[in-house]
Amino acid sequence: MAGKFEGKIALVTGGASGMGRATAIAFAQEGAKLMIADRDRAGGELTVNTIKDAGGQASFIETDVTISKQVEAMVTRTVEIYGSLDCAFNNAGIPGRMGLKVADCSEEDWARVLAINLTGVFLCMKFEIPQMLKQGRGSIVNNASVGALVGSPGAAPYVVSKHGVAGLTKSAALEYGKRGIRINAVCPGFIHTPMLDQALQGGGMSEKQMISFEPIGRIGKAEEVAKVVVFLCSEDASFVIGLAMPVDGGQVAQ
Ligand SMILES: NC(=O)c1ccc[n+]([C@@H]2O[C@H](COP(=O)([O-])OP(=O)(O)OC[C@H]3O[C@@H](n4cnc5c(N)ncnc54)[C@H](O)[C@@H]3O)[C@@H](O)[C@H]2O)c1
Repeated sequence: MAGKFEGKIALVTGGASGMGRATAIAFAQEGAKLMIADRDRAGGELTVNTIKDAGGQASFIETDVTISKQVEAMVTRTVEIYGSLDCAFNNAGIPGRMGLKVADCSEEDWARVLAINLTGVFLCMKFEIPQMLKQGRGSIVNNASVGALVGSPGAAPYVVSKHGVAGLTKSAALEYGKRGIRINAVCPGFIHTPMLDQALQGGGMSEKQMISFEPIGRIGKAEEVAKVVVFLCSEDASFVIGLAMPVDGGQVAQ
């Protein structure tokens, strides 16, 4: 496959599903070789096979982003297989239990959501950045949410975790910008993925209600976020750092 990422290596966490899978495929379509990391082996292997069937190169490593040793191994293995790490999309995340006010949230749910959505992104960056510093180049995109930019009743652990991702992204971007590493985040609105389908099945909000939050009048597609992630990782975004970019159909413009 030929494209903007010919000869480049991209790592995608949460690559077994939703936006992670769509972004891995979009990178591969631009010529990148992929490392797919996820705790879901079957889904990860399906992403790998989809990329290989289309003529691309991809590998899978089972990784829980909350376990430091596994995250370190994810980066080490990527470099062992492919020789470098050019782009990383730190995307693995969970919604946690929605619909509870702060005083009703359990300590367990709070800790789990922060461990995966925020500490998981921190751990990924902790091991990706030293490799990129060695190379003198690299680009990282973290998957935040519109929940990184505005509050949302009934979603405090998630919103806090995503505000944290935005802060982590901006701080790290300022720390490493002069050393060849660009770090940004995307902030998706409602996007059709298995996570969103689960939320719909859970009955907390109907599809009609979700659409009512979207000035564009519809829910987004995973591929629409993937294209923005690939753009932010590309040379076309060479002067863009520390951005937490809404990809949200206008939700936070209201
Ligand atoms: N779908 C939306 O509307 C929406 C909106 C804004 C932000 N997001 C964010 O986008 C990201 C991707 O979500 P999605 O909608 O594609 O969901 P998804 O459920 O389809 O995919 C999430 C992936 O993350 C993996 N994962 C979860 N915990 C993990 C862990 N501890 N270690 C490794 N992998 C783990 C899952 O196995 C899954 O493959 C998440 O961070 C989510 O918070 C989603």
